Amino acid sequence: MSLDLVKKLVILAKSNIMQSNNIDALEAIRIKFLGKKGYLNQHIKNINDTPSDIKPKLGAAINQAKKDIYTLFIEQKNILQSKNIKNTLITDTLDVTLPGRLSDIGTHHPITSTIKRMKIFFNTLGFSIIHSPEIEDDYFNFDSLNISKYHPSRDEHDTFWFDEKRLLRTHTSGVQIRAMTNKTPPIRIISFGRVYRKDYDQNHTPMFHQMEGLMVDSHVNFSYLKKILYDFLYNFFEKDIILRFRPSYFPFTEPSAEIDVMKQETGNWLELLGCGMVHPKILHHVDIDTKKFSGFAFGIGIERLTMLQYNIDDIRVFFKNDLQFLDQFKQYKDI
Ligand code: PHE
Repeated sequence: MSLDLVKKLVILAKSNIMQSNNIDALEAIRIKFLGKKGYLNQHIKNINDTPSDIKPKLGAAINQAKKDIYTLFIEQKNILQSKNIKNTLITDTLDVTLPGRLSDIGTHHPITSTIKRMKIFFNTLGFSIIHSPEIEDDYFNFDSLNISKYHPSRDEHDTFWFDEKRLLRTHTSGVQIRAMTNKTPPIRIISFGRVYRKDYDQNHTPMFHQMEGLMVDSHVNFSYLKKILYDFLYNFFEKDIILRFRPSYFPFTEPSAEIDVMKQETGNWLELLGCGMVHPKILHHVDIDTKKFSGFAFGIGIERLTMLQYNIDDIRVFFKNDLQFLDQFKQYKDI
């Protein structure tokens, strides 16, 4: 390898580069001259055979040649790229008269629509919305609601525990305690949210939604509770339904009741919600004067309502993200 050869290689590379008229060809030239196995690197490998007096000069010349060729390569690449852009601008045409493409507009999830409708009903009656955490401690989820550590109803809740104290709330009723601790009567609140229980079948998913309602005032009684809930259900289903108000038990309400709806096809009763008068023990605990005030509370399963409204017989479809299922709700007017 001689200095002369290096010069010749530079000239050859230059003319190759100048003649290349597309980016792929240019890249092939770069590899031919500058690549790992390219001419110049091959020559560097042989430099040891060169007499030692010209070795440094030759090394420097090869490095300089690499730099020069690389500069030429970049320059030519820029030229070719801008040529490409110009060409596309000339050849690509845009037909502004073509009809636009309609994008597919989605719709609210049926659970979201149910929540919206419930909000409208209860907001109209003066209930305001409050939020409560999904990760609760055993105080708000159980103890404060009169469900002590060894109370049998704790077992019915099939709780997801994080540790000794913290859990995923099994119902929204903890919000009653938060509301009564933070506010003074009159109180009218509702709260929506996810609740969690270890359960999975056609009628249960480990996560589902509840709405909690609470009213504390000086004139609140059991028949008022029944009236509000019946009004809500008749209004919600917008059709004739048969309801049943049946005594029940919850540790935090006394008396307690549940409302069932009759399934028209089978005549079977289906439980919709739990409710009752807030237990005096709980009112005392949050410093509400039971001589002046009383309260009622209710908890409604949101999936249940939605399943009944649309005749859905498997709760699991709500959470499968199956577009075929979800697309059906486009036909219902959104509110
Ligand atoms: N928290 C109860 C449940 O999940 C429902 C309920 C709420 C009952 C409020 C009474 C009052 O089953």
